[in-house]
Amino acid sequence: MVGVRRIAREPALVDGRLAPRHFLDIDQFDSAELRGILEVSAAYKNGRRNRPLAGKTLAMIFEKPSTRTRVSFEVATRQLGGDTIFLSTTDSQLGRGETIGDTARVLSRYVDVIMIRTDLSQKLEELAHYASVPVINGLTNASHPCQIMADVMTLQEKKGPLAGRTVAWSGDGNNVAASWVHAAVRFGFTLRLACPAALSPNPALLEWAWREGGRVSLTQEPCEAVAGADCIVTDTWVSMGDEAGGRRHNLLAPYRVDQALMARAKPDAIFMHCLPVKRGEEVTAEVIDGPQSVVWDEAENRLHVQKGILTWCLG
Ligand code: CP
Ligand code: NVA
Repeated sequence: MVGVRRIAREPALVDGRLAPRHFLDIDQFDSAELRGILEVSAAYKNGRRNRPLAGKTLAMIFEKPSTRTRVSFEVATRQLGGDTIFLSTTDSQLGRGETIGDTARVLSRYVDVIMIRTDLSQKLEELAHYASVPVINGLTNASHPCQIMADVMTLQEKKGPLAGRTVAWSGDGNNVAASWVHAAVRFGFTLRLACPAALSPNPALLEWAWREGGRVSLTQEPCEAVAGADCIVTDTWVSMGDEAGGRRHNLLAPYRVDQALMARAKPDAIFMHCLPVKRGEEVTAEVIDGPQSVVWDEAENRLHVQKGILTWCLG
C-alpha cells in the first residue's frame, strides 16, 4: 500500500513542488478546512457565478455504475467553466490490465483533476500517489466522502449548527456509514449506529473515532439508536460489489426504517438516504416519499458540494 494519508492542510511540498490537493477521505481533513469547503459550496448554491475551472478538465474513472456522482460532477465542472472526460473500466486500458499508477501518470499529463469510483481503497491511494494532479474519491468499498459532505450540508440547512445534534444510522455498516463516522468526528455531532453484528463497521474505524474524541456509538438495537434523534439515515442493503441474497436481507430486515421507527426520533426529525433506494427494503415508501424525507434536497446538494470540492482541489 502506498502512503498518502495525512491531514490535508496545504501547502505541502513533494519533490520541491506543491503537493496536489487530493480529496480522499473526510478524516484526512481538519474541521476548519471541511467547513470552508461547505461555505464555498453554499456560496455557489446561493448564486456565486465565478468559473475557476475555465480551461481545465476533470477526468472521471468509473469502475462501478453511477447516476448522481457522474452527473453532478459533470454539471458542476461545466458550470465552473471546465470540461469532463468519462472513462470506464470497459472502454479504457484499465480493463485490459494497465496499472492504476501508469494511468495516473498519463492522465496527469492531460487533465487537471481526476475523480475515481472504484472498489478497493488501495486503488484510490495508488492513484493519488502517482498522480501529479488532485484526485477525488467518488466512492470506494470503504467510504463515500463527497456524498457525506453533501449530507452534512443538507443536515445543516435543515437543522442549523450541528453541535448537539444527533444522527442515527440504521442498517448496513457500509462505506456510506464509514464516511458518516468521519463526518461526526470532524463536524462534532453525535452519531449512533445500529447495525447487525455481522455487518458492523470496521472496529478500527470506531477506535479511530473514539481516539479522536468523537461521540460515535454502535448498537444492534435500531430503537435505541434512533431515540430522540434529529435525523435518521440508512442505505441500500446490497452495495455495489456485495453478494446479493437472502442472508443480508434476513440480517437487515429489523433495521428497515419505517414510520414506527421514525416516530421514535424527534417529531421534526428528517430522513436521509444517499440513493439509489430499494423501497420496501431498507426504507418504506411511506418514509422516503413522506414529509420528513429530504432526499431530493440531499441529492441536489451533491451538485453544489462537488463545486466546493473541485474549487478546493484546484486551490
Ligand atoms: N449516491 C450516489 O453516489 O449515487 P450514484 O451511485 O448514482 O452516483
Ligand atoms: N453503499 C452504496 C452506495 C451507493 C451510492 C454502494 O456502495 O453501492
